[in-house]
Amino acid sequence: MDNDILKVLYSQNEIKEACERLGKQIQKEYEGKTPVVIGVLKGAVFFMADIVRAADTYMQMDFIDVSSYHGGTKSSGEVELVTDITLDAAGRDVLIIEDIVDTGQTLKFLMDTFANRGANSIKVCTLLDKPAGRLVEANSDFIGFEVPNEFVVGYGLDYDEKYRNLPYIGVLKPKIYSHN
Ligand code: XMP
Ligand code: MG
Repeated sequence: MDNDILKVLYSQNEIKEACERLGKQIQKEYEGKTPVVIGVLKGAVFFMADIVRAADTYMQMDFIDVSSYHGGTKSSGEVELVTDITLDAAGRDVLIIEDIVDTGQTLKFLMDTFANRGANSIKVCTLLDKPAGRLVEANSDFIGFEVPNEFVVGYGLDYDEKYRNLPYIGVLKPKIYSHN
């Protein structure tokens, strides 16, 4: 897989350090509380696993799967709930764990969903923030790294469902896209 990568943006070690930093921030934020930590499938799986183990605080974990459709005639994507969490978010402190916030549409959908369910508080932790891609306002409380407006893969992030298992975050070579 390494041969398909144009450049490495964040190394395995840099990611590890970021997870420890974010885990400690989350620990401090939720001291004395038991948040519901919700990972967004599938991209946030490795990230969630690493940050929760760096946060020494009580929490409950759940997962949600959403998909966004960027229709040819539409400039903005529509987000749909694919698989819901199993816990009840009403009255709870919700922490959403995302892999990347790009247009912001997925995050806005998730925040609206948990607000409608009566969550007590909603915060967001994202591994990557791509501010140049933003179409709707959706801000994260905890951010691993900012990335430029390029398509990135690795450490959970995919291209065509591949490259999620790369231990680092990188930019794909253009020839990978043109072959598909
Ligand atoms: P939005 O645009 O709703 O996007 O903020 C959030 C979801 O889109 C996917 N996404 C990416 N996936 N590399 C990826 O592998 C990227 O550069 C990228 N940009 C957006 C991702 O699934 C994210 O949850
Ligand atoms: Mg994806």
